[in-house]
Amino acid sequence: ELETTLRPKALDEYIGQDKAKEKLKIFIHAAKMRKESLDHVLLYGPPGLGKTTLSSIIANELGVQIRITSGPAIERPGDLAAILTNLGENDVLFIDEIHRLNRTVEEVLYPAMEDYALDIIIGKGPSARSIRLDLSRFTLIGATTRAGLLTAPLRDRFGVICKLNLYETEDLNKIVMRSANILGAKIEELASMEIGRRSRGTPRIANRLLKRVRDYAQVKGDGVITLQMARDALSMLEIDELGLDSVDRNILLTIIEKFDGGPVGLDTLAASTGEERNTIEDVYEPFLLQMGFLQRTPKGRIVTKLGYEHLGLRIQE
Ligand code: ADE
Repeated sequence: ELETTLRPKALDEYIGQDKAKEKLKIFIHAAKMRKESLDHVLLYGPPGLGKTTLSSIIANELGVQIRITSGPAIERPGDLAAILTNLGENDVLFIDEIHRLNRTVEEVLYPAMEDYALDIIIGKGPSARSIRLDLSRFTLIGATTRAGLLTAPLRDRFGVICKLNLYETEDLNKIVMRSANILGAKIEELASMEIGRRSRGTPRIANRLLKRVRDYAQVKGDGVITLQMARDALSMLEIDELGLDSVDRNILLTIIEKFDGGPVGLDTLAASTGEERNTIEDVYEPFLLQMGFLQRTPKGRIVTKLGYEHLGLRIQE
């Protein structure tokens, strides 16, 4: 499937996130030299930055199998026990949205992570007792948008913690060029840079925009993705010069028009924009903060002078 072929398979093919890559390269190497499992890894950062991709690469580099699941998909302790008992020696278990595990499941994870053991309760009432089942060694890779969403005991059980950051335009350009090559799309470097620059620092968005721009160039032109084609397509998609989409702009405009530029609390902002509080916090806010259009203060969010200027507005005195 296309989506999976766009994903790099080796650490050296994975563009950007140099700090995370440098750390992982060393720890993977050391684990392999000792023929041990890699210590548990927590990946955190905004959605779309390649946490799942990176996990598959880690498993690949370790030469082990990966089992991919998510916090909400593991409903009961038995579901997790089934997964854990089916892992091979040193395999990777990837749990996306790991902050959404429920409490009873999370408690099964603690001894599994720490001692590679499952504590199973047999029987009920006064005759109930617990037996300990040994598991193979494995590496848990947990992914979440913010490390602060995890409970302290879970966070403390990860030996490797990697923060993933929004990408620079130059790295997004490389990702778009690479993806265009895999898709067999002809693209000018300037067009690729334009897509990269307008992708909100996010590879998943860059790859999606590339596909839509390619569609546009195929229907409106001769299929070659030129700078002009990219600009016209992105304008049709309501992605502005700096990559803000209609939701980004709506968030800024709502703060300006309904709350005098702020400060406004997150819940109030969610109610006024019709977006989920978590979506604002995890998806929109990191980008708007990075662009310098939004600021967090103890009293709430405010739109900066830069934010007003980007929308062509002036702060009312
Ligand atoms: N596709 C998604 N993320 C990527 C990355 N960091 N490097 C290369 N291709 C990618």
